[in-house]
Amino acid sequence: MTEKKNVITAFGMSDIKDYDKLIKEFGVSPMTSLVRYMPDPIAVYRRGIVFAHRDFDMIIDAMEKQIPFVVMTGIKPSNFFHFGSKIVVDQLAYLQKHGGKVVFAVADVESLADNEMPLKEADAIARDNIMDCIALGLDPKKTEFYRQSEDLTVLRAAQVFASNVTNNMLKAIYGLHELKIYNAALVQMGDILKPQLENGKVRTVVPVGFDQDPHIRLVRDIAKKHKLVPPAGTYNKFMGSLTGSAKMSKREPEGLIFLNESAELACRKIKKKAFTGGRNTPEEQRQLGGQPDICKVYELYKFGLIEDDKELTELYKRCAGGKLMCGDCKNLACKKMTAFLNQHHKKRKQAALSVNRILKTKA
Ligand code: TRP
Ligand code: SF4
Repeated sequence: MTEKKNVITAFGMSDIKDYDKLIKEFGVSPMTSLVRYMPDPIAVYRRGIVFAHRDFDMIIDAMEKQIPFVVMTGIKPSNFFHFGSKIVVDQLAYLQKHGGKVVFAVADVESLADNEMPLKEADAIARDNIMDCIALGLDPKKTEFYRQSEDLTVLRAAQVFASNVTNNMLKAIYGLHELKIYNAALVQMGDILKPQLENGKVRTVVPVGFDQDPHIRLVRDIAKKHKLVPPAGTYNKFMGSLTGSAKMSKREPEGLIFLNESAELACRKIKKKAFTGGRNTPEEQRQLGGQPDICKVYELYKFGLIEDDKELTELYKRCAGGKLMCGDCKNLACKKMTAFLNQHHKKRKQAALSVNRILKTKA
């Protein structure tokens, strides 16, 4: 029997096969046991989409005792947001609602290094991403957005932290890379510790995909060296491509539902491109039932297209019990996606008004 192998690299994508094994291998803690201590956890927590953490207990404690805490994350402005991008933004909005101060890095140094995205182009995409963030519920008045490429605290910190790492450490943590990639990693250390460097020690949580764990391990190490609070991390699963390949990727736009695309286009992708867990014939499906666990339409529901847990369970049972046919199910997904996108686009229009204030245009 061949063993499923997990490959985690911060730069260059990971294809994650077995999340339970990841938890053991990387010494992170499972999230499931903590969720019950969270106030009104949202779907991504309830459904195990945020599946692991380091030190998140201290953030739950802060929420409970109303101790100030920071929620820090960064996103590369290398692509428009898609339905899977919602996973992190939903967490930011939730943690903000429960007292966290949200700091959001437009990771343009990283998109330049990693994706060869010119800073100017990155800017246009960052604006679009920020509109999505606001439309998804981030309060722009309570969120600090900044660009890596022009934040002095971050850029100076990167230089200072360079003294805390050796080439061997970098190679061990990230693998062998060009200087620009290591530089981007150091800039990310600056991002994550910026709130503490500017305002003193504060509990910080970084919600990210699991591919970012190498960064979290390194930043915890650096924080200790500088007598700062080692940041907590929460790790979410990735949403797969609609077509069935492992991760949603820019190279395969038909597998992604972008948050700025029309409902018509989104529906076409759901109906024509989605990989389902359906059987060969309706008779077979009635007899054997569908397979929601491998179905990408079901994944859309689970990752947020259905908010209500009961409704989700009900749909799961009807599928697995052969009571629901894929055609009808896709029509339902399309209907829900249309309602979501139409609402979302209205909110994006509103958000567009504040985006110029948030990110000043560069000459
Ligand atoms: N490296 C992250 C990515 O690949 C982006 C990022 C930059 C980030 N700075 C950060 C994430 C700080 C969390 C915290 O998308
Ligand atoms: Fe997927 Fe729906 Fe078909 Fe079940 S009925 S396999 S959930 S598309």
